[in-house]
Order: sequence, then structure tokens, then C-alpha cells
Amino acid sequence: MVGVSGEPKHLDAAEYRKVLGHLPTGVVVVTGVAANGEAHGITIGSFTSISLTPPLAGFFIGRNSRTWPLIAAGGKFCANVLAASQGELCWRFAKDHAEGSRFADLTTSLSTNGSPVLPGVVATIDCTVHSVHTVGDHDLVVGAVSDVRLLDPKKPAMVFFKGKTGDAHIA
Ligand SMILES: Cc1cc2nc3c(=O)[nH]c(=O)nc-3n(C[C@H](O)[C@H](O)[C@H](O)COP(=O)(O)O)c2cc1C
Repeated sequence: MVGVSGEPKHLDAAEYRKVLGHLPTGVVVVTGVAANGEAHGITIGSFTSISLTPPLAGFFIGRNSRTWPLIAAGGKFCANVLAASQGELCWRFAKDHAEGSRFADLTTSLSTNGSPVLPGVVATIDCTVHSVHTVGDHDLVVGAVSDVRLLDPKKPAMVFFKGKTGDAHIA
């Protein structure tokens, strides 16, 4: 926000969150495998395509994330594009770790780079970690895309809007 003087105005955090909540995003679960072989995943709304040549995609991860360092250690990840009907997965991979394994009762398969693929997702995007850039209280994780798979193109993808999950079906 900029005042009439051109100086940045004090920004109210709640207002900032509320206004940005009016920008719809897709939702992925970024999955990977820790050094001890354990599967991990985090719900991410900031995943986006960055470059076509070379193919790069990325997301912003909070610098206090407990899961990301475990995935990052393996140097690769898979972005699982959630379907509109997968609200339960969206919330389960955003919950505090202390509440138990996020993979409980899920039958997963493996992506080309060996990351977990959640059941019923629309698409997967495999990446190796290209670079990580600190931006404010988040890190921008840039991934070099190594494989993409459209698993269920007819299924509407999830959209997150004003704090709720919904449907991205247009055509
Ligand atoms: C729809 C949705 C989108 C989210 N997008 C992001 C995101 O882009 N970056 C981020 O750091 N956290 C995001 N979160 C929050 C994380 O999923 C949440 O903080 C998670 O608990 C982090 O877990 P960790 O501490 O185990 O890494 C999102 C949560 C939801 C529900």
C-alpha cells in the first residue's frame, strides 16, 4: 500500500491476508522422501510455473516449515495437483505434524523420481531442487522439472479461494 506521499503505508496483517485470500490459487501437495526413507508432504498454494525453457517451476515455503528441510535434503520433490474433491487431503497435509502421519491410511504410488504420488490427484510434476532463495519470511524453492504426468485430465482441479476449497472446472 502506498500513501499519497508515495511512502509505503502501514499494512494491517489481517487485511493483507483477507485481500490476498480473494486471489484464487490451485493447490498441490509437495511430497518427497527424507534421508531415513520416510514419506513427507506439505499443502502448497503458491506452486506455479516459472520458466518454459528450461522448464522450471516453484513455490514459496515458510522458513519455519518443519517438513520442507526433510524433503529438501533428498534434492527432489513431486507436486501433486489436487482434485476439487480432495479437500480432506488439502487440510490433512496442512495440519501440525504432532497430529500424526499425514500419510495414514493412504495408498500411494511412486513418481518417476521416487516421490509419493497421492491417490486420485489430477497431475504430478516431478522436480529436482534447482535453487532456493530467501524472500522475507519465506524461501522461494525453484525446481527443475524432470517429468510431468496428467493422470486424470477430466477431473476438475482444486481451487482455494477465501479460505475454502472449491472447483476449477471451466470447460
Ligand atoms: C490451501 C493451502 C495452501 C497453503 N500454501 C502454502 C504455501 O504456499 N507455502 C507455505 O509455506 N505454506 C502453505 N500452507 C500452509 C502449510 O501447508 C502448513 O503451514 C503446514 O502445516 C506446514 O507444515 P510443516 O511445518 O510440517 O512444514 C498452505 C495451507 C493451505 C491449507
